[in-house]
Amino acid sequence: MKRYVTGIKPTGNAHIGNYFGAIKPAIEFSEQEGVESFYFMADYHALTTIKSGEELREHTYEIACTWLACGLNPDKVVMYRQSDIPEVFELFTIINNVTPKGLMNRAHAYKAIVEKNAEQGINIDDGVNMGLYSYPVLMAADIFMVDADYVPVGLDQKQHIEIARDIATYFNNRYGNVLKTPDEYIDKQFAVLEGLDGRKMSKSYNNTIGLFLPENQLKKTINRIVTDSSLPTDPKPLDCTVNKLYKLFATAEEQEAFDAKLTAGIGWGDAKKELFEVANRYISPMRAKYDYYMSHRDEVDKILEDGAKKARVYAREVIQKVRKAIGVK
Ligand code: TRP
Repeated sequence: MKRYVTGIKPTGNAHIGNYFGAIKPAIEFSEQEGVESFYFMADYHALTTIKSGEELREHTYEIACTWLACGLNPDKVVMYRQSDIPEVFELFTIINNVTPKGLMNRAHAYKAIVEKNAEQGINIDDGVNMGLYSYPVLMAADIFMVDADYVPVGLDQKQHIEIARDIATYFNNRYGNVLKTPDEYIDKQFAVLEGLDGRKMSKSYNNTIGLFLPENQLKKTINRIVTDSSLPTDPKPLDCTVNKLYKLFATAEEQEAFDAKLTAGIGWGDAKKELFEVANRYISPMRAKYDYYMSHRDEVDKILEDGAKKARVYAREVIQKVRKAIGVK
């Protein structure tokens, strides 16, 4: 049995790029044999970006409901809130003492801010608080807490896992073999989707299609996909954004038929209408589940609390070993 852990930062609503690029593959991964996985809402990590209590609470529910709606099965995986595991924060305090400051200076997110500040000629640490600076240490604590073998992450998180590995090694060199050194698990096949303007779908480009938009808004958003000014009778390229998105939602026969229509010539309006039909059909059952969970938050709380109980069994074991090793018990 290999143990996987991954944290999900609650920072706003998921879009279909998140779904196909991260959520769906992660859920499929969790359903394999021989895999024991832990998914937690990294609410304390979100404090670096979300500065309103109401917003953080809302986003945490949104992200938990999203994963449940997309099919994450809380009977098969351990799903919890980071903030429900106090051992994480104790471990964070402890491992800060084996973490060289220089290691944090090299972390990408911090370095990027420092470089930007330097360019603008202002104090290099402007806008940097200790939460941001020690973000990778908290992440390491999350990982050690459940004795994880692997951490499935996107490429952007690779350095954080390397840092966690370094921290485990520093700790173990001082105190003996206590912490497991985790490996990252990066699936390069994770899809990158095109957004409304043909660039990579990303919140920072403001070109996303929200995963659980109400029907009428989904339709409106699909209508905003940027297309050329060709006539309805002109053939459309098969690698257009509309077709790339269509393929994600349609059956093999539908894909073939749609290719034929595009090649023969179809108006963009009609093509988008067909995209909406298949997308809405695919998303509707998940959207219904999402809406259900969002209006039954007590059920979500129960799932997350049960998950925290399970996770804390591991967390207590790890923290006891750590306390013993460092000499406080
Ligand atoms: N930093 C991760 C992100 O931005 C979230 C995260 C927090 C995480 N703790 C983690 C991921 C532990 C993997 C393991 O997406």
